Amino acid sequence: MKHQHVLIVDFGSQVTQLIARRVRESGVYCEVHPYNRLGGGFLDRFDPRAIILSGGPSSVHWDDSPRAPQEVFDRGVPVLGICYGEQVICAQLGGAVESSESREFGRAEIEIVKESPLFAGLAAHETVWMSHGDRVEALPEGFAVIARSEGAPFAAIADERRKIYGVQFHPEVVHTPCGARILRNFTHQIAGLCGDWSMAAFREEEIAKIRAQVGTGKVICGLSGGVDSSVVAVLLHEAIGDQLTCVFVDTGLMRLNEADEVVSLFRDHYNIPLVSVDAGDEFLGALDGVSDPEKKRKIIGGLFIDIFEREAKAVGGADFLAQGTLYPDVIESVSFDGGPSVTIKSHHNVGGLPERMNMQLVEPLRELFKDEVRALGRELGLDERFVARHPFPGPGLAIRIPGTITPERVAILQKADAIYLDEIKKAGLYDDIWQAFAVLLPVRTVGVMGDERTYDHVLALRAVTSTDGMTADYYPFDHKVLGRISTRIINEVRGVNRVIYDVTSKPPGTIEWE
Ligand code: XMP
Repeated sequence: MKHQHVLIVDFGSQVTQLIARRVRESGVYCEVHPYNRLGGGFLDRFDPRAIILSGGPSSVHWDDSPRAPQEVFDRGVPVLGICYGEQVICAQLGGAVESSESREFGRAEIEIVKESPLFAGLAAHETVWMSHGDRVEALPEGFAVIARSEGAPFAAIADERRKIYGVQFHPEVVHTPCGARILRNFTHQIAGLCGDWSMAAFREEEIAKIRAQVGTGKVICGLSGGVDSSVVAVLLHEAIGDQLTCVFVDTGLMRLNEADEVVSLFRDHYNIPLVSVDAGDEFLGALDGVSDPEKKRKIIGGLFIDIFEREAKAVGGADFLAQGTLYPDVIESVSFDGGPSVTIKSHHNVGGLPERMNMQLVEPLRELFKDEVRALGRELGLDERFVARHPFPGPGLAIRIPGTITPERVAILQKADAIYLDEIKKAGLYDDIWQAFAVLLPVRTVGVMGDERTYDHVLALRAVTSTDGMTADYYPFDHKVLGRISTRIINEVRGVNRVIYDVTSKPPGTIEWE
């Protein structure tokens, strides 16, 4: 089955991926491709039913600034240009774009001045997010203004006959509340797409693809208990049954009771062949006395590969390695100077293994965003505890214990972290937060408990909101919630007598402390 496809032409905007997310959310399949990778018959093969031109950092006045192939406009499919994409339309189809020293940035109000299917269901005045320097000055033939704002007299333009549209603002960002509606109007009303992209369809197709790729081969999958690897495991098991073996390496640096939960869910509930390796002593031994964050990561990564390889051999080897690579890792984005960035970030969860063991990769989540992976998990009936889980880094609690790691410190952190997450869940905040965790600091402070002086560890709490982990804001807890968490941790966890809250966003901080 082939879905109706929308093509998003990337001119290097920071938010191109958001366009794809919005389009997918409305049930339409789309892919992002750099503007200069559309030749060689690509457009015919891709066969887009509609095309969206993204924003970008360039000016159409610069020498050699990016353009869309003329074929984009000649295919007779609807085209929507966003910001730089609108300027490209004007520059290429015979209009004029004015270079402007002053930039318009932030919220603006548009007034809809002409009826258009692009704005079906919108009010006469809407708030939008603008971010541009250049602006359209004269329209190409056949175009009319359909919305204007104070700073952009050509805030939205349309050639209704050819179904070519341009908006100066960004409908893909949340600061444009009517933006999802505009994109949906474009795909559904103007391009007439029916929204045939659903997780139920994806599940069926992906299972068929996995079967075709794997044949009678054996697949091995590193299961961490995180959302991505859990969904990969359940999907693969549905596709190929016992040809799949999962390997779960308990590094001893997992959250409290996590190892037991993973093993009992996947082995006992799903009946997935699962090798569980209790490697806590090995990891803690290798990390003994190590405090440098990069050294910790390297030791853990290397040991993980050694153990995985050992266990893979023990089950008789495998032809394929399954990984939870997601679409954001696959998209080739256009770099600031206009060229596509040469390296696709291929994130190897078990880096180096496929080459070392001569295995091919199976990556059934390559086309999905994180929220779609969660939707697929729900479609597969995966337990909500796993589907809605906060991300957890491969090196685990080791990078949440600055300084040297000891079994006692790991135990203190596990207990404190469990209380923190428990209180967040009780307050009904778990799903509002992208990631929350505790960090055990190598700092002791003086306290008083009862009549006794204490001299114990400081524990830092971190909670952030984010869409992809690339940027993040600290979570603005109600102080009452923070107070409750702090009281419980200090009362219940021996070894901690002071709790602090991290109010650093990313950038400049990273989410993890190491
Ligand atoms: P940072 O600390 O770079 O983290 O802001 C961004 C996101 O990535 C997670 N993270 C990791 N995940 N292996 C992983 O699988 C790692 O080595 C790793 N380091 C950080 C982090 O938890 C956050 O969600």
